[in-house]
Amino acid sequence: MKTGQILRHEVDLLVVSDFAAVAQEAAKQVVAIADKAVARCGRFTVALAGGSTPKRLYSLLTAEPYCTRLPWRGTHIFWGDERAAPPEHPDSNFGMARATLLSRVPIPANQVHRMQAERTDLDAAASEYESEIAKVFEIRPTDEPPMFDLILLGLGPDGHTASLFPYSHALQEATRWVAPNYIPELKTNRLTLTPPILNRASAILFLVSGGEKAAVLQAVLEGPPDPERLPAQLIRPVAGRLLWLVDQAAASRLGEKVP
Ligand code: 6PG
Repeated sequence: MKTGQILRHEVDLLVVSDFAAVAQEAAKQVVAIADKAVARCGRFTVALAGGSTPKRLYSLLTAEPYCTRLPWRGTHIFWGDERAAPPEHPDSNFGMARATLLSRVPIPANQVHRMQAERTDLDAAASEYESEIAKVFEIRPTDEPPMFDLILLGLGPDGHTASLFPYSHALQEATRWVAPNYIPELKTNRLTLTPPILNRASAILFLVSGGEKAAVLQAVLEGPPDPERLPAQLIRPVAGRLLWLVDQAAASRLGEKVP
């Protein structure tokens, strides 16, 4: 598939050359979305993702021309999911974002909202995270989920996104905003935002790169609906914008017959 913007099935898909171009384009999108959010309500709320493409994006955001254009003092950072690892552990999504981004920009510490997925009582950790989100958005955890200005997501080779893994419990979550999720393949628990809150976002940006994602990207975008097997298909913003930002290797099977 050639590079450039394509509209298919009411989904915005932008194909760029490679991994580095995905991060560059994502950085531009983050700045534009943050500008709009600040103009609209004086602040910017974003949920970060783990994974290798976001890591590259976070490094870019610490440098020009992006760093001074971002409203760090008016930004609240959350996470879409977190692994069962303390901040210092190499698996920690928070730790990765802290090392690559948060420790290098002037964001107030009390505006960085970490998911504590290393705790034993993950139900309590999930409820507390809901309360933290509710506090920032000045609503109650029993209200309708709030609208993040931007949620960054990745796509796993098995079709997972955030920590919504195939056939896992949290896929069914209809009311909670945050849920513990046991991932049998990894023999571990994680914390994840749930479809109801993800789908309320004003903008969702999927970052996908690499040939190992080609088959799953094709299945998610062009295959029959099967969200239990392909949880990324659950992401359908109620009113917001969904943009898939992918490189040519990941897009290489789009438009072919789905096997
Ligand atoms: C995580 C994620 C996860 C990730 C995908 C894609 O904690 O790992 O949030 O959902 O985004 O697995 O990761 P890559 O971009 O590294 O392929």
